[in-house]
Amino acid sequence: MFSSKLPAVASRAFTSSAAVKAKVAVLGAAGGIGQPLSLLCKLSPYVTELSCYDVVGTPGVAADISHVPTASKTQGSLPDPEAGAWPTGSEGGLKAALTGASVVVIPAGVPRKPGMTRDDLFNTNASIVQTLVEGCAEHCPDAVLAIISNPVNSTVPIAAEVLKAKGVFDPKKVCGVTTLDVCRANTFMGEHMGVDPSSLSVPVIGGHAGITILPLLSQTGASMTDEEREALTVRIQFGGDEVVQAKAGAGSATLSMAYAGYVFTENVLKALAGEKDIVMPAYVKSSITSAEYFASPCRFGVNGVEEVLGYGELNEYEQGWFDKMLPELEGQIQKGKDFAQK
Ligand code: NAD
Ligand code: LMR
Repeated sequence: MFSSKLPAVASRAFTSSAAVKAKVAVLGAAGGIGQPLSLLCKLSPYVTELSCYDVVGTPGVAADISHVPTASKTQGSLPDPEAGAWPTGSEGGLKAALTGASVVVIPAGVPRKPGMTRDDLFNTNASIVQTLVEGCAEHCPDAVLAIISNPVNSTVPIAAEVLKAKGVFDPKKVCGVTTLDVCRANTFMGEHMGVDPSSLSVPVIGGHAGITILPLLSQTGASMTDEEREALTVRIQFGGDEVVQAKAGAGSATLSMAYAGYVFTENVLKALAGEKDIVMPAYVKSSITSAEYFASPCRFGVNGVEEVLGYGELNEYEQGWFDKMLPELEGQIQKGKDFAQK
């Protein structure tokens, strides 16, 4: 079994010594995910510079976060370089936000409301991601991109096509963040097994939407009835809908996603700084199935995704979901590519 146990995050209470020099840019930093994610990044000893970028509100978000007593600097900017920025008088605009970034985390875009699929967000979010990644190609072509904006199954191919068109695509550096699916799988399986979820390593593969999310519960060794297996699998696949419905029109998962995005970001930074054995799930360019992009455990290193790992054996039940999932995932990948290439 390939472990998908989420790597630890650093001890971060009021640390004053950063482990490495790294600038992280959060694009969409004034949003429901962006604000708590930026706060968590401010707490990380791996972040020495935090850049908060959004179309609204970032001077305020950055000013607020900058009062947290950790060693990193915080900057907040809006698209117009002439508009107010934080600190007052600092350079604004996307160029300033991105220049020098090692990791760019992108939660910019609209979230779902009840009754919507992630694909229903495509028309709005595809062009937001396209524009922001064009900026990354220009201002920080070597950064690792961590794409949160939905539909991830399509926005990651869009990002890759934008970077290819600019001649700077590196498949090691473009990731869709699927960490929340593993968080949910560990939590729900922990409840089922009566164990601490943080001790679990439930592999989740495929993509990040409905049945393209495939948890491999057989690899946990837990005993369950057929009904329990079906209920757990479907709950993990549709965990996002559970939050969308509970928020009743006020958006989708933000706090758990900020946590998941932070775990992903800090571990990328650790790997970039030379720490070994950082293995995390990510939706990346992949050749382990017929789908051009696929989420599976990946080994991260100083260049980003050093190795796309396999996912071990599927049982018959999981193989059934896998066979249904692949055409859907491939269609969503093609939709992203077609959009970016047109
Ligand atoms: P939100 O509406 O609260 O915040 C989005 C932010 O993006 C806003 O502040 C908005 O101003 C900003 N934005 C819009 N256009 C922008 C642009 N061109 N440049 C910079 N910023 C821009 O939404 P949210 O709840 O934070 O969710 C954001 C996205 O993350 C959604 O697409 C949602 O579906 C997705 N999401 C993904 C996962 C995942 O597991 N990958 C989990 C939760 C949410
Ligand atoms: C999630 O899984 O929570 C996110 O993809 C947001 C959503 O739309 O469900």
